[in-house]
Amino acid sequence: MKNVLITGGAGFIGSNFINYILSRKDDWQIVNLDKLTYAGNLENLKSVERNKNYHFFKGDITNRELIDYLFKKYSIKYVINFAAESHVDRSILGSEIFYRTNVIGTNVLLEASRRYNIEKFIQISTDEVYGSLSEEGYFTEETPLSPNSPYSSSKAAADLMALAFHHTYNLPVVITRCSNNYGPYQFPEKLIPLMIINCLNNKKLPVYGDGLNVRDWIYVIDHCKAIELVFEKGKAGEVYNIGASCEMKNIDIVKLILKKLNKSDDLIEFVKDRPGHDRRYAIDSTKIQNELGWKPEFNFESALDYTIEWYIKNKDWWERIISGEYLNYYKKQYGDL
Ligand code: NAD
Ligand code: DAU
Repeated sequence: MKNVLITGGAGFIGSNFINYILSRKDDWQIVNLDKLTYAGNLENLKSVERNKNYHFFKGDITNRELIDYLFKKYSIKYVINFAAESHVDRSILGSEIFYRTNVIGTNVLLEASRRYNIEKFIQISTDEVYGSLSEEGYFTEETPLSPNSPYSSSKAAADLMALAFHHTYNLPVVITRCSNNYGPYQFPEKLIPLMIINCLNNKKLPVYGDGLNVRDWIYVIDHCKAIELVFEKGKAGEVYNIGASCEMKNIDIVKLILKKLNKSDDLIEFVKDRPGHDRRYAIDSTKIQNELGWKPEFNFESALDYTIEWYIKNKDWWERIISGEYLNYYKKQYGDL
């Protein structure tokens, strides 16, 4: 058995990853440690909750005693660290929890991994650590780190720490840096689900600045498959960029969603820009393609159709979310919009 500690497995990407892995592997024993912050949701994991190879613990990655207990009890040999505060706008509203979870939490996991001689530590990072591109060029693994938001700076700090643990202690750390994900179970604060849900509710669609910022989109299952390959074949001390070469301007995504849902562009509302808003992200994923044999499989239009369909069919899932604490965040972020 492969005894794997997955942190943040009740969030968007972590839950997609656990559902994906347990539907195809019976030699993984997964321990999912998640604090169940506003972004964690056990409803995402209904299909695996009775699986004998799945164990859930509610807890914080900064809790050393708990981490020690889990490593010992389950003879953990692999760690995949998804747990993070993940939303840029929230990091601008208040940054402390970002550094606590994303930096201190990663440190606690790395220290435990060192004590228990694990076989692989995968740090799930982001392309945002590279900063912002102008109209030309791509992020490669050699691009210098130049994070611009409290969120991305906390992720960059964790990356540097993880690489230092490899360099100093020979800890088998691998880092993945993926671009913007979309798909089922994504929390409604992020661009694509926010626009789908507001459209369905005939609410205004808040587009920051001029709407011309570019993101490079990847369907979440393509990301999960890349992580699976990195788990199997990724080399210690290496960084792998993950992206599906799908650059889109925000305004074009918003208009596409409006069109697919037969709504008028009049719902678009240009609002004050995000402070320090990165202009463009674009990933060069040649390394993972050439060295590990990964390639993206999902086409943007059809995966977006599937995602929209998922949000239409799973209204209960997001209605429960947007009627709770989320309303306070929405008001703080968007005022009376
Ligand atoms: P998410 O916000 O949906 O989920 C984060 C999960 O971590 C939640 O379940 C939350 O409860 C849990 N968590 C937060 N703090 C914790 C703590 N202190 N201890 C234990 N659990 C805690 O995030 P996501 O979009 O699924 O992102 C997952 C990871 O992937 C993050 O590390 C993020 O930086 C990275 N990433 C995300 C994207 C993207 O487009 N969403 C792209 C590249 C990388
Ligand atoms: O690139 C990977 C990153 O992608 C991950 O590391 C982050 O965890 C994830 O949140 C995401 O960050 P972004 O800031 O790129 O994603 P977000 O969905 O917040 O915004 C995407 C773009 O849409 C960005 O240019 C800001 C814009 N936007 C976003 C929201 C929420 C709007 O115009 N209006 C909005 O209301």
